[in-house]
Formats: sequence, structure tokens, C-alpha cells
Amino acid sequence: MVDVLLGLQWGDEGKGKVVDFFAPRYQVIARFQGGPNAGHTLYVKGEKVVLHQIPSGIFHEEITNLIGNGVVLDPVTLKKECEKVAAFGVDVRKNLFIAERTNIIVPTHRALDKASELSKGAEKIGSTLKGIGPAYMDKTGRNALRVGDLLRSDFNTLYEKLRTKHLQMLGVYQFEEDIAAWEAEFFEAVAFLKTLNIVNGEYFINQQIKAGKKILAEGAQGSMLDVDFGTFPFVTSSNTISAGVCTGLGIAPQHIGEVIGVTKAYCTRVGGGPFPTELFDETGEELRKIGHEFGATTGRPRRCGWMDLVALHYACMINGVTQIVMTKSDVLDHFKLLQICKSYRVNGQETQQMPYQLSDTDISPVYENFEGWDKPIASCDSMDDLPEAFNKYLRYITDYLDIPITYISNGPGREQIIHEKTTATA
Ligand code: GDP
Ligand code: IMO
Ligand code: MG
Repeated sequence: MVDVLLGLQWGDEGKGKVVDFFAPRYQVIARFQGGPNAGHTLYVKGEKVVLHQIPSGIFHEEITNLIGNGVVLDPVTLKKECEKVAAFGVDVRKNLFIAERTNIIVPTHRALDKASELSKGAEKIGSTLKGIGPAYMDKTGRNALRVGDLLRSDFNTLYEKLRTKHLQMLGVYQFEEDIAAWEAEFFEAVAFLKTLNIVNGEYFINQQIKAGKKILAEGAQGSMLDVDFGTFPFVTSSNTISAGVCTGLGIAPQHIGEVIGVTKAYCTRVGGGPFPTELFDETGEELRKIGHEFGATTGRPRRCGWMDLVALHYACMINGVTQIVMTKSDVLDHFKLLQICKSYRVNGQETQQMPYQLSDTDISPVYENFEGWDKPIASCDSMDDLPEAFNKYLRYITDYLDIPITYISNGPGREQIIHEKTTATA
């Protein structure tokens, strides 16, 4: 059986921490999409670690970690990350496996990402500039190099062909970048990658399923950044939703079990694009400061705002979410008044549905107000400890979504999480 854990907002919901917490219940943890644009934070032996390419189960020795075919893989980032985890005693040759159909990010993809963003001017997406968009374009354009190609004797010829094409495209953008240094580290990283466990991912995972192993598919980014259903064009280039698990790993839908959605107790977004509940005032500043809302990959300040139930309900619908983990509840300890968006007023009309496009639409959130609580959530270690005002906040959300919130995370550490079954009362 394959359970899925993914982000329900615009990324950075705390997926890394929650996967690390759930890891002991699984034998396999697999990434199925995204690439080094992801930044998943976890704490190992009290030390903060941010993972970009490697699944968040890597610090559990007995767990098999798989980078699935739906991922775009930057060999340079992977090598650095392998060295990082090795410092914690992890032997990636024992518990990390890479699907041979995984597409590779080459240095010119990064240059193309930059060129594309520059050409968009004020309309730029706010990409992490890791080469994600161009790499997925080469996949769907049927030009990409894949991990399995690294083992071919003519790999260098294939690389040269792709490089020439990319340089022509960069010429059209009139964009110049000295990629020689990037190429040197790329080829060094490719040599390293070839020494790792490269497998046929689809047979690998299906054999694990057949053997009765419990598998967790770890999402990257968030549902509102999905290339089909997110706030297009301000999205990433992969299917971040549960449907992406099947194509991103090579498994059939009947093997999917629980779909665990992770949401913050409020909302953040990094990069450009619409964000209806964004706060531009002091409260937004406070959320950023108290929540340490700065990008794990790029260090950019995250935009902050109130919980948006229109977007969250939509995300739960398209993912088939069966349970929710709410993170960063402790950050709200510091506020006297909280708001939750229950509907949008779109061009004067109230709706609970996501409009086709948020960017060109006049949207204002309609809020429900909540009183803050006097006892810090951060100090609670069971449901019975939680203040009534927080329970009221929680109940409003579960009733609206009709999905249980089964865990409340109240701090960044692995053990800072409360198990709860706040079932909908509606
Ligand atoms: P991911 O991309 O979804 O894995 O999330 P990130 O790692 O980019 O960002 C989440 C941030 O919140 C990280 O700094 C985590 O250490 C931190 N975090 C996760 N859960 C909690 C929580 O419940 N409370 C607090 N205060 N911080 C948390
Ligand atoms: P995790 O897995 C938050 C955002 C970027 C940009 C848009 C497109 O840590 O939650 P891309 O580099 O994919 O071309 O950028 O998506 N973005 C993320 N935002 N968390 C992430 O990953 C993100 N990955 C991409 O900021 O707005
Ligand atoms: Mg992140």
C-alpha cells in the first residue's frame, strides 16, 4: 500500500518534518515529483538539515529511499546532499535508490530558467532558478536526458546535442552566462551519480508493494503550485497533487491508501502570483517573524496571510485527502485576533469555489473572526491540554472541510506533534 503525504497550500507546509515523524511506520519513502526547488527541513540530533533532492526518510537507516521517475534531478545538488547526509553517518549506497527514468537537470537548464524569468520582467514567476521549468519542458518536449542515459557509452554526444540546442535558445533570449564552471562540477557529479544505486523504479516499487511493504510518497511544493490546478502560470512545472504519484513512481491508482494533506495553521507563499489572504500589514510581518518564514531553498522572505479555506477545500478535493496534519499551530499563540477566509467575493459575488484565474480577478476574502488563546499551544502535549479557543478554530476548519485533522504540529522538532482525531461535527 502506498500512502501519500503532500502539501495543501503553496509549499513549505512542513512536509519534511512530518515525513520524518511518520517515517518509522514505513519501509519505503519515495519522492515522485519536483526537484531541487524543494527545501524540506528536518532536525537530526538537534541539528537543522534541509533536503532538496533526497527523500526525508534518509536518516532512518532501515528505510529504503527512492527518487522516482517523476522527479527532475540535479546531479550537483544530489552530490552535495549525499555529502551532507554522510556527515550524519548515512551511507547512501545502502538506502538510496534512483529510478533510471528520472530526468536530469543540466547546467544550461539553469541558465534557461534565468533567461526565461528575466524575459518576463514584472510578470516573473519568482522561480527558484534551479532549472525546473526547462527540465520538465525537455521531458514533455522529448529531448531530455535521463539517469539511465548516464550509463550509455554515447552519453557525451547526447549531452552535446542538448547543450547546442540550449545555447541556441539562450541566443534567442540574448542571454549570456558562463556555464564552463557549472559544467565542470556537473560532470564530476555525474561520475558520482553513476556510483549510486540506479534501478528500474517501476519494477522496484511494485516489487515492494507485492512484498507487502508500506510505502510513503513524499510530495514536494504544494497543491496550489500544481501545473494544472494551481494558480497558473504562477506554479511549478510538475503535478504536485496525489494523481502525480501514479505517473511519478509507476504505480496503479488502486495501490494508493491514505492521502495525508499538510497545511499550516495560516498561509504562506514564496515567489510571485496571487495570494488572496496575504497580509501587507504588521500582522503579516509578525507571522513572518514569529514563524521564521524565510525560504529553505532561496532564503527569500515568505509572504504571509490568514488560513484560506476556499483554497484548502479545493486542494482537499483534487487530492482526495483523507486526513490533515496542521503545522505551525504554535505560531498563532502570539495573536489576539485570528481570521479564517471562508469565501471569496469575486467581482462583487460571494463564492466558495476557486475561480479559473486569480490573477486578473478582483477578489476579496470574506473572513470569520476568532479569538486568540491565552495558553501557548507550544506547551501542549496532548489534545486535552489544548485551549478551548484553539479547539474552536480547529473545529471550524474540520467542519468546513469535513475531513479530520489527525495531528497538530506545535514546533519544528520531530517529537513536537500532538495526535488528535478532530472529526467533523457536521
Ligand atoms: P516543507 O518544504 O514543506 O518541508 O517545509 P519547509 O521546511 O520549507 O518549511 C517549514 C518550516 O517550518 C521549517 O523551518 C520547519 O522546521 C518549521 N516547522 C515545521 N513544523 C513546525 C511547527 O509545527 N511549528 C514551528 N514553529 N515550526 C515548524
Ligand atoms: P517545497 O517542497 C515553496 C515556488 C517558487 C516559484 C514557483 C516556481 O519546499 O514546499 P520553480 O523553481 O518550481 O520554477 O518555481 O514555485 N516553489 C516553491 N515554493 N516551496 C517549494 O518547495 C517550492 N518550489 C517551488 O518560489 O514561486
Ligand atoms: Mg520548503
